[in-house]
Amino acid sequence: MPDAVKFGFGPFAAPARGVLVVFCGEGVKFGSAAAKALGPAAALVARAAKTESFTGKAASVLELIVPAGMKADRLLVIGAGKAADLKPTDFLKFGGVAMGKLPKSATEATILADLPDGAMGGEQAALLAQGASLRAYTFDRYKTRKKDEDKPAAGRSITIATGDVAGARKSYAAHMAVAGGVLMARDLVNEPANVLYPEEFARRTAVLRKAGVAVEVLDAKALKKLGMGALLAVGQGSRRESRVVVMRWNGGKKGAAPVAFIGKGVCFDTGGISIKPAAGMEDMKGDMAGAACVVGLMQALAARKAKVNAVGLIGLVENMPDGNAVRPGDIVTSMSGQTVEVINTDAEGRLVLGDVIWYAAQRFKPQMMIDLATLTGAIIVALGQEYAGLFSNDDRLSERLTKAGEATGEKVWRMPLAPEYDKMIDSKFADMKNTGGSRWGGAITAAQFIKRFVDDKTPWAHLDIAGTGFDSRQSDINRSWGSGWGVRLLDRLVADHYEK
Ligand code: BES
Ligand code: MN
Ligand code: ZN
Repeated sequence: MPDAVKFGFGPFAAPARGVLVVFCGEGVKFGSAAAKALGPAAALVARAAKTESFTGKAASVLELIVPAGMKADRLLVIGAGKAADLKPTDFLKFGGVAMGKLPKSATEATILADLPDGAMGGEQAALLAQGASLRAYTFDRYKTRKKDEDKPAAGRSITIATGDVAGARKSYAAHMAVAGGVLMARDLVNEPANVLYPEEFARRTAVLRKAGVAVEVLDAKALKKLGMGALLAVGQGSRRESRVVVMRWNGGKKGAAPVAFIGKGVCFDTGGISIKPAAGMEDMKGDMAGAACVVGLMQALAARKAKVNAVGLIGLVENMPDGNAVRPGDIVTSMSGQTVEVINTDAEGRLVLGDVIWYAAQRFKPQMMIDLATLTGAIIVALGQEYAGLFSNDDRLSERLTKAGEATGEKVWRMPLAPEYDKMIDSKFADMKNTGGSRWGGAITAAQFIKRFVDDKTPWAHLDIAGTGFDSRQSDINRSWGSGWGVRLLDRLVADHYEK
């Protein structure tokens, strides 16, 4: 984790130095703890607010340098808006906003977790810390010419002053375990494909063992033996061998059926023989964002000792054009025994997922399965970068995911599945073909394809994260290209419905 910031919690007090962050409501109203910390500087704040037309609107910031009458070198007043409107995601955002406003040179900051109508709870204080840590992440390991003034000061520490130190510390432990998973996912997504090819990706999952996750790597020979002809067809044009990684976290009741998470891990997607146009192709190093999310999630669940049995499986391949590459028209046999006519070698993700999902179901008999994949450009056309596409055979699971999305800000929008779309992937020569033949409804026909590898008795959801996995517009809690999208969503889903 680069530029790690240390977080601590303490009782309400005005800091003797560094940066002080306080919150105010609409009309620049302060709670008692903040008012006390401001002391005589409150008049200064009122004047500055007027001059700046700062009204305390949610996430707006008023900044005062060397405020007279205070020991702090810098004061940040963050608007919290109307107290009644505040949701958990707002506290995350406030933490991100505060972090974003800290000067790079600042080594010490104190955030006062206080609102006009009373102190924030411990959970809310912990969310401030999580938001700040997500915002602090940068991916700059390949920047050799960083200027000193661009580098954050070493040993930055942030104290969150709260009315519930014990409660905040307790929530914080879980939130930071999850943040660690998000940052791990971002690191994987940001890494270029010359560095992160299937074998290297598989190697990097070994760190999960430290948290108590059993990690098993299946090499190409093992995959061949299992009959994963669809997955292997995608990787056959690459100099890099394909891999499947199986991660197991057993925090639940012995023998209880696990929840399963399956990720698309196309380390680079050129499109293969159906090669993509050059413009923007570099983004396809992120075509493993689904797999990155599964790894980050397994890390998060283990680090916070989630009371659940969970398995994570990722299919790692590289899709390249080559003399040995799979061709349009080729027919491959999947592990399920179903044959697939490859119409377009750029529709490779579904070939990978079909085999890994089938394998996960056979081996683990999960109580529920969720796959994540940067699967189609069509889902970006439909939903942009705000919502991921949700496809499911189960209303209850869909409902749960939708709620978890609202709670975490990683939102999903349910899309249809129907026999009319399923018909579109029937093939003249094989059991199915890997595209619907038309660009219309492209995200849906892709989901229908995956559905053919799922038995209808297992609740299953497919999340098309092509729009959200990377290159999301910069948010208050992420400034990096890779988003780590889905880790917080699925951790939440597990915490709310599948633990104990
Ligand atoms: N990895 C791409 C989808 C993608 C596009 C992800 C943009 C993120 C951003 C996927 O493998 C792909 O190429 N899909 C094709 C399918 C088509 C050939 C049926 C697409 O969406 O165009
Ligand atoms: Mn593709
Ligand atoms: Zn792809």
